[in-house]
Amino acid sequence: MSNDIKQIFVISVFPKLINDFINYGVLKNGQNKSLINIESIDLRKFSDKNGYIDDKPYGGGPGMVIQAKPLIEATRYAKSKLENYKCIYLSPKGKKIDQEVIKDTADNHNLILIAGRYEGVDQRFIDLEVDEEWSIGDYVLSGGEIAACVVIDAIARMIPGVLGHKDSNKDESFENGYLEYPHYTRPEMVENLRVPDVLLSGNHEEIKKWRKKQSIFVTNNKRSDLIKKKLS
Ligand code: ADE
Repeated sequence: MSNDIKQIFVISVFPKLINDFINYGVLKNGQNKSLINIESIDLRKFSDKNGYIDDKPYGGGPGMVIQAKPLIEATRYAKSKLENYKCIYLSPKGKKIDQEVIKDTADNHNLILIAGRYEGVDQRFIDLEVDEEWSIGDYVLSGGEIAACVVIDAIARMIPGVLGHKDSNKDESFENGYLEYPHYTRPEMVENLRVPDVLLSGNHEEIKKWRKKQSIFVTNNKRSDLIKKKLS
């Protein structure tokens, strides 16, 4: 396995969910071009001799907890295959990630993503093996797989060459801290709405200025917290 391509390992009880997801579009393209390598690891392969990976929580309560041992073994297996990795447990209790975290990871680290299920995982696994806990938002999913797919997609598109056009991610939302300007395509009229004149003018300097202004306007209107963050 080459070390100059981005490596992402995902540990999950539903590896097929990950394998299906990474087989489309930008992710497939990145893998075909050997710019990114994504591997899923089936946690059940690390189950005990009875095939179990979960048990009832100490202290009582609903649901089941994934045991530390299979998680530790699967994670150490992934670690043995990688260099320069961050080991991330996906959880609503984690740090809420943003484009800055994604960009930093795309630039600097390989990843081991652990997707939990059930009520959670044994805390000792987190204490022993996990570098950071990440959340994709303030809501609870039934498992970390969807969160892992979100992270994989966001990282892959930041890797040079993965997107079709070389500048495709340069103008988009969160680049430079602003949301993206609005887009229009043919026809010029949709019902009673016309494409802004400047976009038909052919004046690239004016178009650039208009887009920048729109970007600031949209950000101010929809996400003024981003402007405050920029100014702080
Ligand atoms: N697993 C369950 N909910 C999650 C969330 N919001 N973010 C990341 N992983 C999760």
